[in-house]
Amino acid sequence: MFGGIFSGHPFASGFRNGPLKAGLNILPDIENSQLLRRRFYVAMTFALWVVMGLSMAVSGLIYLLLPPKSQREEEWVEAADLASLPHGVPEEVLFPRSRVDGWMVRVEKAKAWLVRKPGGQVVAFTPQCTHLGCAYHWDARAGNFLCPCHSSRFSIDGNVLGGPAPRPLDQYAVKIEGGKVSLGAAKGRA
Ligand code: FES
Repeated sequence: MFGGIFSGHPFASGFRNGPLKAGLNILPDIENSQLLRRRFYVAMTFALWVVMGLSMAVSGLIYLLLPPKSQREEEWVEAADLASLPHGVPEEVLFPRSRVDGWMVRVEKAKAWLVRKPGGQVVAFTPQCTHLGCAYHWDARAGNFLCPCHSSRFSIDGNVLGGPAPRPLDQYAVKIEGGKVSLGAAKGRA
């Protein structure tokens, strides 16, 4: 560029052999370092994509291949002392229960109706009516469970006595060890 404008001028030849020549000499170095930097950024971006893709693929595989925690092990939770349960009268108890929600485990209060039978056996009912899930209670005068929503009634064994409830009360698995009543998973009854 300078050659075209200043050609023939003494200043031009001096300048071309001095600082301009030095400047033109370092231009390739600058271009090289910019090219290297650009390649480095591209490589880093690519590596980041690979790492993100791999981590998503591994998480997906773990999710698909490993069964949920609830299926891997049955969780037992202590709910009451056997000695504290009255004979033949249902007792409502609260106990902590962990609920698996995706990858999160939440601990919440759950409810059960426990019935201690004459032989020391314990039956535990889940607290929802089998019609539409309302909370029922023990009607001591009538001697059965009553759901206030649509008046379904259940016997002390959980069987349907009346109302729209389509099946008996669901039950928790029960384990008694060392005088403690522990509850496991809830299971429906046909
Ligand atoms: S929810 Fe209990 S009778 Fe309808």
